[in-house]
Amino acid sequence: MTTVLALETSCDETAAAVVCDRTVLSSVVASQIEIHRRYGGVVPEVASRAHVESLGTVTDTALQQAGVQWADIDGVAATCTPGLVGALMVGLTAGKTLALLHDKPFLGVHHLEGHIYASYLSQPDLQPPYLCLLVSGGHTSLIQVKGCGDYVTLGKTRDDAAGEAFDKVARLLDLGYPGGPVVDRLAATGDPQAFKLPEGNISLPGGGVHPYDSSFSGLKTAMLRLVQSLKDAGVDPLPVADLCASFQATVAKGLTKRAIRCATDHQLTAIALGGGVAANSGLRQHLSTAAQTRGLTVLFPPLQYCTDNAAMIGCAAADHLQRAHQSTFALTTRSRMDLADVMTLYKS
Ligand code: KG4
Ligand code: ZN
Repeated sequence: MTTVLALETSCDETAAAVVCDRTVLSSVVASQIEIHRRYGGVVPEVASRAHVESLGTVTDTALQQAGVQWADIDGVAATCTPGLVGALMVGLTAGKTLALLHDKPFLGVHHLEGHIYASYLSQPDLQPPYLCLLVSGGHTSLIQVKGCGDYVTLGKTRDDAAGEAFDKVARLLDLGYPGGPVVDRLAATGDPQAFKLPEGNISLPGGGVHPYDSSFSGLKTAMLRLVQSLKDAGVDPLPVADLCASFQATVAKGLTKRAIRCATDHQLTAIALGGGVAANSGLRQHLSTAAQTRGLTVLFPPLQYCTDNAAMIGCAAADHLQRAHQSTFALTTRSRMDLADVMTLYKS
């Protein structure tokens, strides 16, 4: 049994958790959404300052709620890449300091590996190989999970991430920030077939489309033109629910097609989701239905572990620590790092 205190500060959630193997003993998230809402998006410097202000309390609360003493903790982990460098620095510095102070091993964790590990929190018996559809505010990837620290990215977005597309469409429709949850809620009352939109495919030079890669900038532009043409035609109020439902169904259909094709081509029988957009009800419904007809299993993490949290980081760190992987105190933050390079974070 390996118990880890984990910190997550890569973007706009200050989070701490205590995880024992794949069991969450506590998970505390202080959201900065209210702070960033007035700017319509995350302001990096404001995020770093807010992390500094709340990380101490969030960490103390996580330790208290877990009911553990420092003697029970086997290691300290913090997200070190990818993300906003200033924001990552807060969690990484705090994590290293706590590890040094209490003489524990320290582990830097790749944020996307954390999102992959969210599935183990509800499905501790899940075994690689499987496909992970990772859809967040910064990433849209199809990842073949071969084992702990062993990943092959088979598909990705060429431009905007799925969550980013939701956020931009919400801004276009004046729905506020973050866009995903509100678009999801409004889509439930709209007609998904009201408007026909492009599914975000990548055309190949020789004809046809890329089987696994996505592009959401064309879809975003199509939404912009559609809204403009409705306004020019004097449509008032705009059919916001129909626009949200059509947009959401288009994203869900495109992601579902590519994920199913990728899993089938690589003989992977399970698709696990990760990232904030994995909370989307349209995607959950489309993917579940399509997978069922093809005999594939789909695993959705509980909603609180889809969006950013430290429990998923602790779960990944516990697995690495069990394999004697740990980071040096010289580890620094990186705004980007390919998931294929995740083992460079550890010496064994
Ligand atoms: O994984 P996450 O919390 O942070 C990143 O690592 O990016 O994902 C945040 C993204 C945001 O773009 C947000 O709008 C989107 O996830 N999101 C959703 C839903 N809940 C959050 N998108 C669609 N439907 C949702 N229900
Ligand atoms: Zn994330």
